[in-house]
Amino acid sequence: MSYSNKVAIYPGTFDPLTFGHLDIIERSLKIIDKLIIGVAAETPKQIQFSLKDRVDTINLVLEKYFPQENARAVGFEGLLVDFARNERVNLIIRGLRAASDFEYEFQLAWMNTKLASEIETLFLPASEKTHFVSSSIVKQIARLGGDLKEFVPKEVSQQLKDYYGQYPK
Ligand code: COA
Repeated sequence: MSYSNKVAIYPGTFDPLTFGHLDIIERSLKIIDKLIIGVAAETPKQIQFSLKDRVDTINLVLEKYFPQENARAVGFEGLLVDFARNERVNLIIRGLRAASDFEYEFQLAWMNTKLASEIETLFLPASEKTHFVSSSIVKQIARLGGDLKEFVPKEVSQQLKDYYGQYPK
């Protein structure tokens, strides 16, 4: 199978996308030409937003930040390695925030390599500006009516406000 070595997949749940994710996307595009943001339907986590809502909101943000269309979100079901093979991509990019992320990320990378030996994972360290951000903390702040502008793009902030306005907890 032939692969493009200029394209990578940045997979995640993105529930929701944060400035931490955007930082990884921006920096990935310095080393590769095109990034597919693989939005997973399947994850052990409890998800707040539907796959469609996550993909649509991420694409709204990406159209604004990357108008040259080198980063776009695509939803996928099933295994990440199958998605990567379908897209003919053999490079996965993941961000690492702290040592606490390492074990889980190492396990994911190993399992993916066991399932598809041609697929490699590249880790980028989270930047010092965003390493404290996480999707679950963002949701907690949104639920409690806090200011989100430091943590997520405007479009995501609106999505969170709409959601928690409709379903207050
Ligand atoms: N800066 C700040 N925060 C970051 C970050 C960064 N650079 N990178 C990740 N995060 C945070 C996210 O906000 C999120 O926070 P949360 O734990 O509070 O939700 C957390 O780190 C990780 O979320 P995300 O980046 O969305 O990825 P994930 O760990 O949810 O994604 C998949 C896991 C989707 C890659 C994995 O479950 C998968 O591949 N699923 C498909 C099915 C499959 O193939 N399974 C077998 C895998 S071996």
